[in-house]
Amino acid sequence: MKVQDKHYRSIWLDDDGRTVKIIEQRLLPHEFKIVDLTSRKDAEIAIADMLVRGAPLIGATAAYGMALAMAEDTSDAYVEQSWQALNKTRPTAINLRWALDRVKSVLLPLAPNERLEAAYKLAIEICDEDVEINRKIGENGLAIIREIAAKKKPGETINILTHCNAGWLATVDWGTATSAMYHAQEAGIPIHIWVDETRPRNQGAQLTSWEMAGHGVPHTLIVDNAGGHLMQHGQVDLVIVGTDRTTAQGDVCNKIGTYLKALAAKANNVPFYVALPSPTIDWTVNDGIKEIPIEERTGKEVTHVYGKLADGTVTSVQISPDSTPGGNPAFDVTPANLITGLITERGVCAANNEAMLKLFPEHA
Ligand code: MRU
Repeated sequence: MKVQDKHYRSIWLDDDGRTVKIIEQRLLPHEFKIVDLTSRKDAEIAIADMLVRGAPLIGATAAYGMALAMAEDTSDAYVEQSWQALNKTRPTAINLRWALDRVKSVLLPLAPNERLEAAYKLAIEICDEDVEINRKIGENGLAIIREIAAKKKPGETINILTHCNAGWLATVDWGTATSAMYHAQEAGIPIHIWVDETRPRNQGAQLTSWEMAGHGVPHTLIVDNAGGHLMQHGQVDLVIVGTDRTTAQGDVCNKIGTYLKALAAKANNVPFYVALPSPTIDWTVNDGIKEIPIEERTGKEVTHVYGKLADGTVTSVQISPDSTPGGNPAFDVTPANLITGLITERGVCAANNEAMLKLFPEHA
């Protein structure tokens, strides 16, 4: 998508064909900085310290991490060791393991001297595929927005609530939840986005708002607790969120707070959709609540907030007593029965195994 009229992806290969470029997301929206990844270790740090984040981008960065690793050592042992090191950078988004498995399964049967080029080729392929998946999710999401628009007065605004950042910064391009929004905007449907701030790291406030502002999409930043109230007052027509891991039964694990939005949506008859690229489906998991590992992050993200002071300095400030500890589960699971539909690249389906398998019969 565009940053000051120039098109960017969230990750790309430099002209030297080896250096991987990313946007340092921790600095947004106050500073736009591009960072080079030149080693496997750089890729590990970028994922673990959240310079990059969002399930599809975590997968894409891991694929490039394997390519960077092959520039260091192409042995079988190093392929395995790199898989292990990258796989432990973040626990919840399944796209990480999906991308690593895919790269490893291509590399191991090859001769070591073929692995470097093959790994880069595959990382590029994974990125291009992600862009195309998200474009299609946008088209399929647009059909839902059109249906809702058809039930409203001509020209009436559709209010969409979203949580966290399932935008282009969380993917390689387009975003998942936001792709439908951009497609609706392009189609001339008047939309307005309620952006949940998404404490504690404020991905909504810092990233989704920045993306929406950059593309002229009307939006309003709200506190995480406002969604239920807005739904009660008819001010939300639909919710679209992303996902870090969706089970074979349609339970959706996403940023902490998603579950509460789904409960509020159900209570208020507001359609609740999940934008779901197929690499985010974990076909090996059935019970999302029992089986998905939930990342526990430092309490400091809760006791402190990061922002810009009046003098322009960007800093972190403490908001709680010195002795109060912060608890910080980073994701939650929304059970399938709270979900109206899954918007995938192959179409929209109900959140259940039968419907998912109709779209993805190869996983039967
Ligand atoms: O902790 P983050 O910022 O990596 O969490 C991101 C999310 O929860 C997104 O909603 C999810 O990855 C979907 S991205 C298309």
